[in-house]
Amino acid sequence: MTVSLRGSESIWLATADGAGFPTLDRDVEVDVAIVGGGIAGATTALLLKRLGVRVAVLERETVAAGATGYTTAKITALQSTRLSDIRSNNGADAAAAYARATLDAIARIDALVQQEGIECDFERRDAFTYAGDQQEVASVEQEAAAAQEAGLPVELTTETGLPWEVPAAVRLAGQAQFQPVLYTRGLAQRVDGDGSHVFERTHVTGVDMGAPCRVETAGGGTITAERVVVATNYPLLDRGLFFARLEATRSYCIALPVRGDVPEGMLITAGQPTRSLRTFRDHLIVGGEGHQTGAADAQPERYEALVEFARRHFDVGPEAPYRWSTQDGMPVDSLPYIGPYTPGSKRLYVAAGFMKWGMTNATIAATLLTDLMTDRDNPYAARFDPNRVSLRGLPKTAKLNLHAGREFFGARATPAEASSSAEVPVGEARVVRSGAGKVGVFRDEDGGVHGVSLRCTHLGCLVRFNDAERSWDCPCHGSRFDIDGAVLAGPATKPLEPRDAER
Ligand SMILES: Cc1cc2nc3c(=O)[nH]c(=O)nc-3n(C[C@H](O)[C@H](O)[C@H](O)COP(=O)(O)OP(=O)(O)OC[C@H]3O[C@@H](n4cnc5c(N)ncnc54)[C@H](O)[C@@H]3O)c2cc1C
Ligand code: FES
Repeated sequence: MTVSLRGSESIWLATADGAGFPTLDRDVEVDVAIVGGGIAGATTALLLKRLGVRVAVLERETVAAGATGYTTAKITALQSTRLSDIRSNNGADAAAAYARATLDAIARIDALVQQEGIECDFERRDAFTYAGDQQEVASVEQEAAAAQEAGLPVELTTETGLPWEVPAAVRLAGQAQFQPVLYTRGLAQRVDGDGSHVFERTHVTGVDMGAPCRVETAGGGTITAERVVVATNYPLLDRGLFFARLEATRSYCIALPVRGDVPEGMLITAGQPTRSLRTFRDHLIVGGEGHQTGAADAQPERYEALVEFARRHFDVGPEAPYRWSTQDGMPVDSLPYIGPYTPGSKRLYVAAGFMKWGMTNATIAATLLTDLMTDRDNPYAARFDPNRVSLRGLPKTAKLNLHAGREFFGARATPAEASSSAEVPVGEARVVRSGAGKVGVFRDEDGGVHGVSLRCTHLGCLVRFNDAERSWDCPCHGSRFDIDGAVLAGPATKPLEPRDAER
């Protein structure tokens, strides 16, 4: 049986109603402005509001339509081999602190769901990291040791509920999963009102750090606030130089109806290729196929590999009605960046670098930022300080910046793929010669051509077409643009310039 890839939607956005918040069209004054309406922005806003702080959330699209709407939404302290990574980069104390903070975050999410009465399919589930083959057994055992040392009550097992034998697995009981869009929109609904606001389709173009701060938006409305939190997944302001120490990586997911035996738990492999599994209602979700944003191999075959995996192991329906993909920031030293945007800043804060585990890391961020802004102690403030010095992270920082440098100069020397837009096939894109330079041209199903400058508006690297998502992606720091150049993901804030493609 072949499974066709019918859909191109996230199961989370498809099974949630729109949030329906207004666009900012006037000037508003609050205590704290929060840029970004994902799980990080919405949770921070609600925790602050509960303490009597007036907040405004400013979201470029709709609440939870960023990475939060395209995730797998497992809520767990067992995160593939994350604790081994943290232990090797930062030591056993750091891994223990990360594990404790994550357990607190799970409890916080559970409490918010109950206290606020948010209907979001929140369910307790066991989490597993399993060996995809014999070679991954050592990684599983290492993760079990790191988790135990970090204080997590894990156990080694081969009983995973998967319909095939695995050579080894580590299990952490009592973790959770939910519907992330219902949860985040539920939080946002409780933020709006009583002097606090949520604005959608409100694109922040800059932050003026006068006293008070002024958050400027594309529509002309302005928010005046004492403090500003940047929760845009990839920080949109360059002043913290996050682009030099945060790697954007993408992953893909599919969801398809499943019958028969399905695992109760949430599972993920310990090595490559990553296969991440969970269920949502009567659907099986499979994730994996990660790569650096802007890589040349962002191909539709990524989805097909996931479908093939599902078909091989489970009794799945003939069609995969949902598929989606998103990216997240990987910090060079394997700990998130949560706190002052620049050293000593008391008015500009950031939450980023969630390493594809942002359900809990965003919740850790919300708690920590709320404590910092309300002058309360938080045991994790120094650990996750975005301005920490990490010698262990230096080689990765150097590698990241070498890669960006190579892309900046190397891609310019690459020849065009077509000499005119007439050569661009329907549904595809080509780099087309244009005078002495090159432009990006996409031809849509109606034959229309869409031409854009290839120069990323962040720092000028050349964007590359992503066949899997039909977008222009920047290999340097992960900005993404649609076929007409509109920003899909930062750090870029300006669209690609349009180019005449009818030549
Ligand atoms: C494939 C995949 C699977 C994952 N699975 C899991 C999982 O199982 N468990 C887990 O814990 N984590 C998981 N993650 C990670 C998790 O999804 C993210 O870390 C989390 O959603 C990030 O939330 P956020 O609020 O920081 O970002 P987002 O949800 O991206 O929110 C940021 C918002 O800012 C807005 N924005 C950006 N620029 C502007 C601007 N200029 N003006 C106004 N608004 C702006 C965006 O539109 C966006 O809505 C996964 C990640 C990936 C890639
Ligand atoms: S994202 Fe930085 S140059 Fe493109």
